[in-house]
Amino acid sequence: MTLRTYKGIAPKLAEGVYVDASSVLVGDIELAKDVSIWPLVAARGDVNFIKIGARSNIQDGSVLHLSRPSKGKPAGSPLIIGEDVTVGHKVMLHGCTLGNRILVGMGAIVMDDVMVEDDVIIGAGSLVPPGKTLQSGYLYVGSPAKAARPLNDHEKSFLTESALNYVQLKNEYLAEG
Ligand SMILES: CC(C)(COP(=O)(O)OP(=O)(O)OC[C@H]1O[C@@H](n2cnc3c(N)ncnc32)[C@H](O)[C@@H]1OP(=O)(O)O)[C@@H](O)C(=O)NCCC(=O)NCCS
Repeated sequence: MTLRTYKGIAPKLAEGVYVDASSVLVGDIELAKDVSIWPLVAARGDVNFIKIGARSNIQDGSVLHLSRPSKGKPAGSPLIIGEDVTVGHKVMLHGCTLGNRILVGMGAIVMDDVMVEDDVIIGAGSLVPPGKTLQSGYLYVGSPAKAARPLNDHEKSFLTESALNYVQLKNEYLAEG
């Protein structure tokens, strides 16, 4: 795998983390226990930091970046992802904060200073503009993303199930060596 140091800071990986050999992780990135990073993910923690919570998975071709601190915004916009989050294929996450048990559909774009509360699904191909808050318990779709309806019980339980499926899958990949 490609783990690159930037300004003396290298990515930190907790126990059980899986990073595909084709992915590139640079700088200030923290991956908690059992996180999985799938092929061709690019994550760059250079002008701010990236944190990913336990059991979350970042699927193939996704891009993770952030925004630097500025006069008006001294903390800038780091990228913070909670626990049991599934980030689908080819997603762009930029300088946003995601809570726990979230599914980000394939090809979605989530921009700076977005706050996604716990238990949310973002439909495939959605665009979430800067600074929006997505409310807990809802499905959001479209460009710009709008609340479509509340999640049903099946979808809510699927959020945790999806994350656990990916923990199991990455364990199989780790066992392959
Ligand atoms: C949005 C989603 C959850 C389906 O929700 P749903 O309520 O079951 O939607 P339905 O399939 O019943 O479709 C309802 C309407 O939404 C539309 N729709 C479905 N998915 C949509 C999406 N991602 N964006 C915009 N509109 C969407 C349908 O075309 C349909 O429109 P219509 O009423 O005009 O015909 C699903 O399509 C989706 O995007 N899932 C994400 C899956 C994913 O990317 N997983 C990650 C990889 S593991």
